[in-house]
Amino acid sequence: MEASEVSSITESNKEYFNKDASTYDTHPARVLCAKKCAEAILREVKDPEGYEVMDFACGTGLISQDLCAHVKSVLGVDLSQNMVNEYNKKVLEQGIDKEEMQAICSELKESEGDQLNGRKFDLIVCASAYHHIDDVESTTRVLASYLKQGGELIVLDLKKQPEISHMFHGGELEKIFLATGMLENVSSKVAFNLSKKIEKDEHTFEWFLVKGKKI
Ligand SMILES: C[S@@+](CC[C@H](N)C(=O)[O-])C[C@H]1O[C@@H](n2cnc3c(N)ncnc32)[C@H](O)[C@@H]1O
Repeated sequence: MEASEVSSITESNKEYFNKDASTYDTHPARVLCAKKCAEAILREVKDPEGYEVMDFACGTGLISQDLCAHVKSVLGVDLSQNMVNEYNKKVLEQGIDKEEMQAICSELKESEGDQLNGRKFDLIVCASAYHHIDDVESTTRVLASYLKQGGELIVLDLKKQPEISHMFHGGELEKIFLATGMLENVSSKVAFNLSKKIEKDEHTFEWFLVKGKKI
């Protein structure tokens, strides 16, 4: 993909999610989906109490909120400033310590190197967002680079449906994880099923989970 195409997809995502931010949590299906993603993540990790977690493409913090009670800290990262504002508003309103949960607005571009001053994570999660990302190979390399040795990357997303061609199979992402050269013990599974209405028709979607461990 041309660099100009990548930046225009990123810009339109930013615009779309900036508009969507203030009403995002009013959609019960999105809240339910995030809950199921957080539960699936917590099923994958043993003893996460001391974990420093990054929630990449964190949105309004639905996943971070559920993880926060079980780990040491969660840093949300999102492209959309309005999503980040909603996230941090939630932290303030719920009286959560900023050291435990906070979000920053960043794309974490590969070309810009380390953008977090050497900060590394025990667990990086990304839920329901990979199908929005234009260069998943680059994003996966960037996310792997922010893991501590032995830390885990967990990506959840909708499984490819014949009628929605831009989404992935877990198997495709497994290859992308391995191609980073930074991840081992890579595996994927179906995490849960969710019904979703598309133009009056009810479809059942599988949400897959792919995980890998930093070498
Ligand atoms: C469907 S929402 C999911 C939010 C959250 N993960 C959840 O499950 O509630 C997708 C999110 O991905 C973010 N996003 C899209 N492209 C991104 C990128 N290149 N870098 C960071 N975040 C991105 C959007 O701003 C949006 O907040």
